[in-house]
Amino acid sequence: MSVSKAKAYNQLHLLPPKQSLVETIPVLRQVSKSAVALAELKGLTQTLPNPSILINAVVLKEAQASSEIENVITTQDKLYQALFAKSDKTDEPTKEVLRYREALLMGTKLIKEKGFLNTNGIISIQNELEQNNAGVRKLPGTALVNDLTNEIIYIPPDDFDTINNLMSNLEQYINTDNDEVSPLIKLAIQHYQFESIHPFYDGNGRTGRIMNVLYLILKGLLDEPVLYLSSYIIKNKANYYRLLQEVRTKNNWEEWILYMLKAIEQTSLETINQINQINALFVQTQKQVQEQLPRIYSKDLIEVLFVNPYCKIDFLVERMNLNRKTASTYLKNLEDFHIVRAEERGKELIYVNIRLYDFFKKGK
Ligand SMILES: Nc1ncnc2c1ncn2[C@@H]1O[C@H](COP(=O)(O)OP(=O)(O)OP(=O)(O)O)[C@@H](O)[C@H]1O
Ligand SMILES: [Mg+2]
Repeated sequence: MSVSKAKAYNQLHLLPPKQSLVETIPVLRQVSKSAVALAELKGLTQTLPNPSILINAVVLKEAQASSEIENVITTQDKLYQALFAKSDKTDEPTKEVLRYREALLMGTKLIKEKGFLNTNGIISIQNELEQNNAGVRKLPGTALVNDLTNEIIYIPPDDFDTINNLMSNLEQYINTDNDEVSPLIKLAIQHYQFESIHPFYDGNGRTGRIMNVLYLILKGLLDEPVLYLSSYIIKNKANYYRLLQEVRTKNNWEEWILYMLKAIEQTSLETINQINQINALFVQTQKQVQEQLPRIYSKDLIEVLFVNPYCKIDFLVERMNLNRKTASTYLKNLEDFHIVRAEERGKELIYVNIRLYDFFKKGK
C-alpha cells in the first residue's frame, strides 16, 4: 500500500468527533437561527389543509436539484408531464429524477414505520435510486477526483470489513442520542461521514442527500420531506466539495457544519416562502371559482387542481365521485375562465392549472 493511500484510510475516524471541534460559538449561534427557521417550516406544514399539494411540489424540486448536482438535467415541465399525465415518451434524465423522488418517498415511509435508519435501509434507498442491487462496495478502485484537475483527492476505504464497521458506527450515531449535541450539528457530521465512507459504487451523493432530509424527520424536526436542501448545495457546489475535503485535511469541522446549518436556514426560509405563495394561489383560485362559477365550486375541486397540476377527467371522477360527463363539463367551465388550459397528450386531454404551472416555471 502506498503511503498516501494509508494516509487516506487513517484520516477517516469513527464518530463522534471531539465535541470542542464541532460545538464552537459561531456554530451554536447559527444552530439557533437554523432551528428557528426549521421549526417555522414544520409549524407551517402542520397548518396546511392539504399537505400533499406541497409534498408533491417540494419533493419534485428536491429530486430535480439533487440530480442536477450529478448532471442529470430535466425540466419541471417534463417531470410533471411524466408524473401526472403518465407520458410514455419520458426521457432517461426525467426517469432518473423520478427515481430519486421514489427513493425519497420510500425512505420517508421506512423511517415512519421503523423509527430508525440502519444500513439496510440506506442500501434499499440506494437500490431504489440506482435500480441495481450491487449493495456495499466489495471491490477496490473507487477514488474521489477533482473534476477540474483530475487529481485524486481522496480514496475512501475499500476493505469490505472496514466499510461495514464504519457503517455500523454511523448507524449508531444516527439512531442514538445520548450526547447533548444538537441534531442539526449531527446532521452535518453524519453527512460528512457517510460521504467519506462512500459505501457504494455510485449514487453516494444522492443517497446521502436523501438521508439528510430523512434525518430531520427521524429527529422530529420535520413531518414530511419538504425541504430542498439540494438546491442550496447546487448553488454553493464548489464550497460543498471544498469543505467536505477540509474536514479531512484540516479538521475544519466548524466551516463544514456552518455550511450545512446555513443550508438548513436558507432553504427553510425559501420553502416557507414557496408555501405561502402556493397558498395564496390556492385562495385566489378558490375566490375566482366561487365568484365566476358558483355552481361547480367546491373546495375539493380546487384541491384536485392543486394536488394534480396536470389534471384529467378521470381524476375528478375518482376524487369527487362525479360521472364523466359532469367532470368534463367542470373542466371545460374552468377552461372558459382561464383557470386551466387544455392540452392534447396523445389521445388524451389534460388540463393544466395555469397559476400553479406559471409559478413552477418562474421558480426554476
Ligand atoms: N472530498 C470529499 N470527501 C467526502 N465526500 C466527497 C468528497 N468529494 C465529493 N464527495 C461526495 O461524493 C459525492 C459523489 O459521489 P457519487 O458519484 O457516488 O454520488 P452520485 O449521487 O452519483 O453523485 P452526485 O453527488 O454528483 O449526485 C458528492 O456528492 C459528495 O457528497
Ligand atoms: Mg455518480
